[in-house]
Amino acid sequence: MQYRRLGSSDLEVSSLCLGTMTFGQQNTEAEGHAQLDAAMAAGINFIDVAEMYPVPTRAETTGDSERIVGTWLRHQARDKVIVATKVAGPARRMGWIRGGPKALDERNISKAIDGSLKRLQTDYVDLYQLHWPERNQPMFGQTFFDPTEERECTPIRAQLEALAKLVKAGKVRYVGLSNEHPWGVMQFLQLAREHDLPVVASIQNAYSLLNRVFEYGLAEVCYRENVALLPYSILGFGHLTGKYLDDPAAEGRITLFPNFGQRYNKPNVLAAVTEYAALARAHGMTPTAMAVAFVKSRWFVGSTIVGATSIEQLQENIGAADITVTDELLGAIDTVHARYTNPAP
Ligand SMILES: NC(=O)c1ccc[n+]([C@@H]2O[C@H](COP(=O)([O-])OP(=O)(O)OC[C@H]3O[C@@H](n4cnc5c(N)ncnc54)[C@H](OP(=O)(O)O)[C@@H]3O)[C@@H](O)[C@H]2O)c1
Repeated sequence: MQYRRLGSSDLEVSSLCLGTMTFGQQNTEAEGHAQLDAAMAAGINFIDVAEMYPVPTRAETTGDSERIVGTWLRHQARDKVIVATKVAGPARRMGWIRGGPKALDERNISKAIDGSLKRLQTDYVDLYQLHWPERNQPMFGQTFFDPTEERECTPIRAQLEALAKLVKAGKVRYVGLSNEHPWGVMQFLQLAREHDLPVVASIQNAYSLLNRVFEYGLAEVCYRENVALLPYSILGFGHLTGKYLDDPAAEGRITLFPNFGQRYNKPNVLAAVTEYAALARAHGMTPTAMAVAFVKSRWFVGSTIVGATSIEQLQENIGAADITVTDELLGAIDTVHARYTNPAP
């Protein structure tokens, strides 16, 4: 396992991060703990969770992923584990989170962190991320900015001031963004510098062979501003393993929760997956291994988030991180990408 500093923070994170959003839904507490133990044994020191997990989000289960991480975390040496969690942005259909998160204002952010710390059974989180922006912008598979959707929202400076209070109180060490765009990242950075507020260390966005949108505008921003990408859904919700090509009814998130994977119900996803799977096999590796290794090899990636519903899956994903993506393979990947550019943006 390799370790690197996350953006401008002092966090030395492993090159893989364990995603936990299946804990409490597809995975029991015991299974979650087994995954955490296996990840730590492999050298992973970085865990990602969120107040709204597990997914698909439901009133009955929200917070359970943090609870499961918490019952494990209390038995660990706290300073050996880097814990990232997130405060949910506004969402009308999640009325059960703080009465329906309406704003990323001080009241909501401070209530959210206190809930997360309690469930995680810890005094602080290492990285606190805004799960998605409050302002109007395209997200979770939307591709167009729509000015007619503009609405009042908490100024970014006020969001940063709320985060600064958490840092000052020792509840949060560093802050990060998620599902953000270049304008948002630059605003957060500039306002932080102008007003001596926390500088974001990372951005957690979707990035995979099916979605390389990050490479357009955000890669430049992150390079010039020392912000690290924490790529999520690197297997396209499981599509890039190729299992749904082999058997469209294979048990997994896509067949268990058909309404959840809409981002991947787009033209060309299956055609792209078919080509990537064939390419991987022609290079003597599984489709999963190629998909993980590709993401991990990108220069802008701080730590690659791997998610699994079994120890076998987790071991395959961890093993893939050792694979070298040769220039020849990268060229072949880019050829497929040129034919099927970002089918699941
Ligand atoms: N910030 C955000 O908005 C956001 C959004 C999504 C995720 N995330 C973070 O990123 C983490 C990972 O996201 P994700 O779960 O969407 O990632 P993903 O890598 O696209 O999908 C992971 C899923 O694929 C299947 N899988 C994984 N490895 C496999 C293997 N070797 N063989 C066959 N199937 C395999 C498993 O589901 P099945 O067994 O059900 O097929 C697993 O749960 C989450 O836990 C969370 O921490 C963040």
